[in-house]
Amino acid sequence: MLGVDGLLARPPALELAREAARDGDLEQLRRLLWEVFRFRPVQPRLARRCRAETTLAAGTPRARRVPTGAAVFVGTHSAMWDEAAVPDPEDFDATRAQEQYRVFGGGPHRCPGEQVMGVQLPALLAPLLRSDGLRRVPGPAGRTRWDGLYPRRLEVDLGQEG
Ligand code: HEM
Repeated sequence: MLGVDGLLARPPALELAREAARDGDLEQLRRLLWEVFRFRPVQPRLARRCRAETTLAAGTPRARRVPTGAAVFVGTHSAMWDEAAVPDPEDFDATRAQEQYRVFGGGPHRCPGEQVMGVQLPALLAPLLRSDGLRRVPGPAGRTRWDGLYPRRLEVDLGQEG
């Protein structure tokens, strides 16, 4: 849902996605979706609890002591907007190096579903994108409705009457 919403919000990206769907280029479609998620990740941060006191970024001006037991929120969304690591983060660019993405977390708990989603999401979306009339339905129903942190509903029209 967030993927469709993000593409509908960006006509040039939507056009690239339609083209990829028409060409059966599901890897290009996946890249476009991951870039959409960089702007609006499903999980904007990871929650952790520090098991043993440590210092983050030790020896740098950003050094920060984290005491044992402290709750730590790792800003994966903001990391994907850190221009020290992600060039021109405000540009929508589906050609980025894959290590610039933290949509599926990182480290030992990186999402094991990433590969599955990389195949499944483009395959699910491609038929919708191939429909010429894909657009939001008018009014609030055509905007994503949220249930707390989770997207619940987005109505689109495929332009096929009857
Ligand atoms: C777009 C879809 C998905 C997104 C954005 C996503 C995102 C994430 C993220 C960010 C984490 C890391 C959580 C953390 O470190 O605290 C995670 C963990 C996990 N994900 Fe996903 N995920 C998705 C789909 C899936 C699917 C389809 C599966 C199963 C097939 C899955 C299974 C898991 C599991 C088991 C973990 C825990 C890994 C661990 O703690 O070692 N995820 N996911």
